[in-house]
Amino acid sequence: MHDSLLLFGATGDLAQRYLFPSLLHLLRDRLLPDGFRVVAIGRTEHDDDGFRAWLRERIADGDARNGALDDLLGRIHYHPLNLNDIDGMAATLSRYADRPAVSYLSTPPNLFESACLGLKAAGLLEPPSRLVLEKPIGHDLPSAREIDATLKSALDESRIFRIDHYLGKAPVQNLLALRFGNTLLEAVWDNRCIESVDILVAETAGVDGREGYYADYGALRDMVQNHMLQLLALVAMEPPAALDADSIRDEKRKVLRALRPMTAADAAADSIRGRYGAGVVEGSAVKGFTADSAVETFVGLRAWIDNWRWAGVPFRLATGKRLPSRTTEVLVNFKPVTHWVFDRPDSKHATPNRLRMRLQPEETIELGLMGSLAAPEWGATELMPMSLDMAMLPPKRRIAYERLMIDALKGDQTLFVRDDEVEAQWRWIDSISAAWAQAGTAVQEYPAGSWGPAAATAFLPRTVHGPAGRRG
Ligand code: BG6
Repeated sequence: MHDSLLLFGATGDLAQRYLFPSLLHLLRDRLLPDGFRVVAIGRTEHDDDGFRAWLRERIADGDARNGALDDLLGRIHYHPLNLNDIDGMAATLSRYADRPAVSYLSTPPNLFESACLGLKAAGLLEPPSRLVLEKPIGHDLPSAREIDATLKSALDESRIFRIDHYLGKAPVQNLLALRFGNTLLEAVWDNRCIESVDILVAETAGVDGREGYYADYGALRDMVQNHMLQLLALVAMEPPAALDADSIRDEKRKVLRALRPMTAADAAADSIRGRYGAGVVEGSAVKGFTADSAVETFVGLRAWIDNWRWAGVPFRLATGKRLPSRTTEVLVNFKPVTHWVFDRPDSKHATPNRLRMRLQPEETIELGLMGSLAAPEWGATELMPMSLDMAMLPPKRRIAYERLMIDALKGDQTLFVRDDEVEAQWRWIDSISAAWAQAGTAVQEYPAGSWGPAAATAFLPRTVHGPAGRRG
């Protein structure tokens, strides 16, 4: 395991909220090597002690009592650096080339290329050193390719770790366990038995503090290009022959490449865009999001996977900010039984089976089945929907980044996104941006605290808008 971590963007929001707290937990649980050190790099001027004091204020919690926080702070050295100054970076950082390192770029993507060149000049990308990158990688396929070409000029794919933090979430990994650890599900996992799939990532949070970034990216690029497509790929991929990084990533790539590009003619039926206005979320009044660009904070899509397994099965994807609740779930909606033998064939009594995998806020798996309560007051064939519930209790709830940091230090790429996956993701996303531009797809305002624009029900799961809602 490598024991030297260079963290770029050390004063940024992600580092404060997740990366340093993850390191703190890993140290507390003695999961990091003895000589572990962190070289923190940010834009703000601090010396080592100044940075340590600044960080202590932000991440101190109950863990401080067991000394893990002091331990972490004692391992950190801080350097203020301008990442566009490649020579300056090389001069400051070359002293850390004494051991193999993991350099983690938690910076905007426009700094990836110069940071990579600076690291190369400092001797910090020589094998077996590694590079970790946060999303988004580029803004579209051409910009992603340009970044990739620079990365590849400094190191090869086997040492590049692209983060999608959803892959570090335990329930997301559980999707694989559920699909490939059970005979029961895989046997019905295709268009013969499945009518549709819903993937919902709803947030109550707004874009606050990230208005500039959001005005450029919008929900399509911020959420769908990465997290939602990774969820889709895990739900839809073929069983891999083995569980190694490339076997899994080969299968994910095949699904991503089978996504049917959107055309302007499909845009109206297969997509919707919204942006939240003022409203009330969880009892508090909130302001709307205004941007000069036509950018969305809500997106609903109907995706089609053109392959043998999924032909004709719509995958409805919906994500938005300032929605009524924080919910991430995948719903697999099965087809109705082919011949209903019971005496009351109305829809109330014939609820199709549904597998609901809820990833956030709590982790649960629920299988909706039809059953009968054979009590005397019920006719023996009177059916009702029932559910089998499986509440997951992980031994310890971990931040997704804890797992990803450990894997990057160990060199395991399974939960990181490969170059060809990123390309396939962008290719599909670019088709949607182009379709929207050509069709003039409007961004419709929705009140904060609602489930998006009125017509969004066609893209939302039935669990959100009720059995009477429209289905696509
Ligand atoms: C990030 C997006 O990648 O994921 C954010 O940039 C979003 O806009 C966040 O809020 C959601 O992650 P999580 O783990 O809170 O579901």
